[in-house]
Amino acid sequence: MKIGILISGRGSNMAAISDAMASGEIPASKVAVVISDKAGAEGLTKARDRGIETVVVERKGRSRAEHDTEIGDELEKRGVELICLAGYMRLLSPEFVRRFAGKIVNIHPSLLPAFPGLDAQKQAFDAGVKVTGCTVHYVDELLDHGPVILQKEVPRLPDDTVETLTQRILNEEHDLYIAALKKLQSEVQ
Ligand code: GAR
Repeated sequence: MKIGILISGRGSNMAAISDAMASGEIPASKVAVVISDKAGAEGLTKARDRGIETVVVERKGRSRAEHDTEIGDELEKRGVELICLAGYMRLLSPEFVRRFAGKIVNIHPSLLPAFPGLDAQKQAFDAGVKVTGCTVHYVDELLDHGPVILQKEVPRLPDDTVETLTQRILNEEHDLYIAALKKLQSEVQ
């Protein structure tokens, strides 16, 4: 399974996925390319340190559709079979979602459909929920939306701050993304 990973920032999920593929924990899979819409994304260094090819496709003055076409071309050139969004903070165009129908997955730091969008951990914290978590799902044309592949609950502890809760969710995200990709990989065999 050839994977392309889209990032915008830190890239800790990207690193977890890449390491699990390199070690064989996710079998018969390889990260073909990491693409960022931000030239300064910290995750680009993490990818290069792992010997993974990186590409920057900035939005600049282009439309969403033009930007996404270029990203799609980079992915297709490398024969990518599955696209993993890992902190890619831009809504994909309907054209892109249709072009790669059923082949795009995303991770989000809440129990979707609760708290889509930015700062999901803070949204859950401010809402006073006792349990939140993270979700890996197929991507459709709506933001943080589409069929769920796996979810993991994370309890809010009495002395949690947004920061401690966010960190515990992130730790679970890494394991959840790996588990979801193992599941998808076993289904294509
Ligand atoms: C992660 O918490 C991910 O779930 C979230 O951005 C963070 C990226 O961290 N994504 C979203 O909120 C998508 N709506 P990372 O760059 O270290 O993987």
